[in-house]
Amino acid sequence: MLGIETSCDETAASVVEETGDANRPWRIRSSVVASQVPIHREWGGVVPELASRQHIRDICGVVDRALRDGSATWADLGAVAVTHGPGLVGSLLVGLSFAKAAAAAANLPLIGVHHLAGHIESLVLHNGEMPLPAIVLVVSGGHTSLYLVDRPGRYQVLSRTRDDAAGEAYDKVAKLLGLGYPGGPIIDRLAKTGNDRAIALPTTRLTHADRNAPELKGDLDFSFSGLKTAVLRHVKSAGHELSRTEIADICATFQRVVVSALVERSFDAARRFQARSIGVAGGVSANSRLRADLKVRGEAREVPTFVPSLHLSTDNAAMIAAAGLRKYRAGLTSPMDLNADAALVLT
Ligand code: KG4
Ligand code: ZN
Repeated sequence: MLGIETSCDETAASVVEETGDANRPWRIRSSVVASQVPIHREWGGVVPELASRQHIRDICGVVDRALRDGSATWADLGAVAVTHGPGLVGSLLVGLSFAKAAAAAANLPLIGVHHLAGHIESLVLHNGEMPLPAIVLVVSGGHTSLYLVDRPGRYQVLSRTRDDAAGEAYDKVAKLLGLGYPGGPIIDRLAKTGNDRAIALPTTRLTHADRNAPELKGDLDFSFSGLKTAVLRHVKSAGHELSRTEIADICATFQRVVVSALVERSFDAARRFQARSIGVAGGVSANSRLRADLKVRGEAREVPTFVPSLHLSTDNAAMIAAAGLRKYRAGLTSPMDLNADAALVLT
């Protein structure tokens, strides 16, 4: 399977093959990611028009490289999987148009993949099949959502953030502390040297259903914008330029509050749905404290916890190829008039 991913600011392609082993169904033959971070860093966030233009420049070379690294030719492929949403529509269209053209030229089936299905399957790609039912938290720059996976390839949304995604909160707090972009890895690093109880920051616990999503109970939802505002207020009220120690303390405290919200809600969901495992995927799953706390809590509660490798945590195309293989084996291919959908819902 050739996987292609261009939903945000990485142009990625990958060749993933089936192993024949039901517990470890897929093996990565190559995974190439061309990151646009240096381009967007200058602006403090992703600039959509610059992103789509850069995808156009990079896509041919990235796919060529993935085939070469994977010792594969077009004739070796069984299908082409591509992210068709959610994401930036101009960026999505570059990968989708390329995938359609390649599938038509090589006479291969096209498989449209939801970006978050890719993040969820990154867990299986790295760890093998998880004990089901599983609770999976997808936590990235664009999403913070809990899913129940009761059988392979079926994803039921349980909750999501009411406002900012966790990664977005990291990026915004890093920006207001003058730390640069993307904020997650920088805050993660600085947090290690700070005191995580140094300042008072609020934790948000929602108890009522969201008017915009009455079908969800709401008490497993997330909210991070109040936390970001509290950091902003703290910085303003300091009235002086913050020292390195003060910044490290803010990072450590912010990180403790975010990570504990993510871990608590995941274990609450696991208890409620009697899950046999918990997985956490997406860019924020690269976070060192989140990884450590999940492991400790999992061992204490005797629920195995899973994270992807660091390479598979952030956006990549191997996870898209894996989710594509899941659909391919279920007989699900896409028509050639498949469109990009910026707000695609995972069903
Ligand atoms: O999954 P991803 O690559 O792209 C999206 O689909 O959004 O996630 C990127 C997000 C960014 O917000 C980035 O700050 C965050 O993941 N991130 C981290 C860490 N590494 C990346 N957040 C916290 N700690 C990290 N170590
Ligand atoms: Zn992502």
